[in-house]
Amino acid sequence: MANEPLLIGVLGSGRGSNCQSLIDAIAAGRLNARIACVIADVPDAFILERARKHGIPAFYIDPAPFKTKLEGPAETRVIETLRAHGVQAVALAGYMRIVKKGLLEAFPNRVLNIHPALLPAFPGMEAWKQALAYGAKVTGCTVHIVDAGTDTGPIILQKAVPVQEDDTPATLHARIQEQEHRAYPEALRLLAEGRIRLVGRRVAIVPAAED
Ligand code: GRF
Repeated sequence: MANEPLLIGVLGSGRGSNCQSLIDAIAAGRLNARIACVIADVPDAFILERARKHGIPAFYIDPAPFKTKLEGPAETRVIETLRAHGVQAVALAGYMRIVKKGLLEAFPNRVLNIHPALLPAFPGMEAWKQALAYGAKVTGCTVHIVDAGTDTGPIILQKAVPVQEDDTPATLHARIQEQEHRAYPEALRLLAEGRIRLVGRRVAIVPAAED
């Protein structure tokens, strides 16, 4: 018998194309999961509209009084909303805030992030611009478990993207996003299938069970 779908809560601030890639992977039967709710820290973030279009409960939670972190009353409300929707794993998808201990302890080793570079290279903001400015020949994307640092948690999977001579920040970011849209559903699938084992800071991928 098939396992129960993994209930995912998505946190975002912007376009939500990664959230869309999860919605599409679920619809196509590539990911045994359900997006239980979407939460944004920006009232008119397009990610909320996408979610509502697909009948997914979507909430704006005012992040005040913090400018760059998720802490205080907003963090409490986010955790309560995720719990009220039965969320088992949290996917940060273009969420422009640093998440703190409260959320990480509520979902231990089950808060994931997607970052637009091959970590540990180019952590932080606009990583594709950093890679281009540095002159990297290869960059990519990383899905990792979120820990207390910024973009430092155990790596689940990465996909490489060659940098082309004529790349602009926009063209490079677009090609990285194509890989993100493959990587995030794959990583969540590994989580949904219980195939992620943490060994120190390394993620070991358990082979798929035979049917
Ligand atoms: C992605 O490039 C992701 O790696 C970064 O923020 C961007 C979000 O894009 N964390 P979207 O909102 O999913 O389209």
